[in-house]
Amino acid sequence: MRRYLRMLLACALFALLSALYVFSQFASSLERATGRTDGRAQRGDGRQGAGKAAQKSGPGDQHWYNRCRSLSVSYWNPYWRLPPAVCGMNCLMESSFRYILRDEKPSRAGGSRQEPVHLAVVACGQRLDETLTMLKSAVALGRQPLHFHIFAEDELHSGFRAALEVWPGPGRSRYNYTLYPITFPADNAAEWKKLFKPCASQRLFLPIILKDVDSLLYVDTDILFLRPVEDLWSLLAHFNSSQLAAMAPEHEEPRIAWYSRFARHPYYGKTGLNSGVMLMNMTRIREKHFKNDMTSVALRWKDLLIPLLQKYKLNITWGDQDLLNIIFHHNPESLFLVPCQWNYRPDHCIYGSNCVPAEQEGVFILHGNRGVYHDEKQPSFRAVYQAFQRYTFGEDLVESLLLPLEEDLRKTTHTYCGRVGHLFTKRLQLSVRTSQGDASRGQ
Ligand SMILES: *[C@@H]1O[C@H](CO)[C@@H](O)[C@H](O)[C@H]1NC(C)=O
Ligand SMILES: *[C@@H]1O[C@H](CO)[C@@H](O)[C@H](O)[C@H]1NC(C)=O
Ligand SMILES: *[C@@H]1O[C@H](CO)[C@@H](O)[C@H](O)[C@H]1NC(C)=O
Ligand SMILES: *[C@@H]1O[C@H](CO)[C@@H](O)[C@H](O)[C@H]1NC(C)=O
Repeated sequence: MRRYLRMLLACALFALLSALYVFSQFASSLERATGRTDGRAQRGDGRQGAGKAAQKSGPGDQHWYNRCRSLSVSYWNPYWRLPPAVCGMNCLMESSFRYILRDEKPSRAGGSRQEPVHLAVVACGQRLDETLTMLKSAVALGRQPLHFHIFAEDELHSGFRAALEVWPGPGRSRYNYTLYPITFPADNAAEWKKLFKPCASQRLFLPIILKDVDSLLYVDTDILFLRPVEDLWSLLAHFNSSQLAAMAPEHEEPRIAWYSRFARHPYYGKTGLNSGVMLMNMTRIREKHFKNDMTSVALRWKDLLIPLLQKYKLNITWGDQDLLNIIFHHNPESLFLVPCQWNYRPDHCIYGSNCVPAEQEGVFILHGNRGVYHDEKQPSFRAVYQAFQRYTFGEDLVESLLLPLEEDLRKTTHTYCGRVGHLFTKRLQLSVRTSQGDASRGQ
């Protein structure tokens, strides 16, 4: 009798487990099905928008798009169990975007003097070394002339000068630089000063301060270029007539993104924008009248900032980035959205990899925000930073930068971001090889 009872218990348990399994399969197949139809609808839109570029979509596209199905976060799929390559709605935009750059041949305008790339950075406090490492990565790869606009606290100026004057023999002819104090635009400086924290908000004023500069690439100090700066710069030529700035999304996944969960102000798109890498046509910024939710008339950039801050100052968390999000929320036609591999942050790998374009083509620009270059939390990010920091101009890029970096990254595979460490060097390998090819041809 006891034996039958035990058998019965075992059977019941088995039946229960089977039922659970069938139910979970059913739930996830339902999600997959909805994901597909959603995807198709959005994709259609994307194609129209991207026009000619999207017509070239190849066979890889189908694969791409299947990985972009939108799974929902639920009891069955908590965010830490999402499949590794799931990415949010931004993928769909990216799949049409890719074709623009793929066809881009590096411009080697035969002999004629090229316009320099204007690169701006704002450095305060302890950021001297970090900023110099960023500039070093910009000089080391690529070939177009650079002009650095460095806004820094006065006590950092001598440090910048000392480093930038002794930098490389041949590379030195690639860049010029201008040092500026942290400053407000001359007209109504007093009012700016009352409202804005000078260091944090400096970059909002660049279009007004650098009146004679047409276009500018602004980057945070914790950026590292793994692909020549001029490749990003070349996107300016792809702006349509209403676009005046290019930025990457703050996140790929609305369900775990910061803005979609916590923001108490309007923001761009579904996940907001990250302003750590911002390409601007400042001529257009100075000319445009921006729609806003404060006045019925559209306002010029210089007249927009003060009322915007006054209205939202109690609700913003990330300072100037939030203000930019509010501005582009009301003027979405002015933004050129670039894919996540141009602004790759720990967010893209700490819960599993969610930046699909980086998986395919590698990381182009690394953004070590939240101080990850300087602590133990993301050793793979720190490894890239230290590799550039150690590198001295004149040394062989493969022997002294790439190989030691690959070695260091292999030691970080116990972390989520370390597991995708090969993405950090995927594009860099190519950049280094191109750069060396130039050197050996005696450029
Ligand atoms: C730096 O400035 C000098 C003098 O204005 C100019 O001749 C040179 O071409 C500039 N170099 C770069 C890389 O822009
Ligand atoms: C600021 O946040 C509060 C609370 O979420 C909200 O009620 C208020 O409308 C927000 N202010 C603005 C200017 O959006
Ligand atoms: C920026 O926009 C202005 C005005 O539309 C245009 O003349 C200029 O060529 C643009 N700059 C670049 C680098 O595309
Ligand atoms: C430029 O592109 C943006 C983003 O795709 C779009 O919203 C805007 O309407 C376009 N502007 C023009 C004039 O086509």
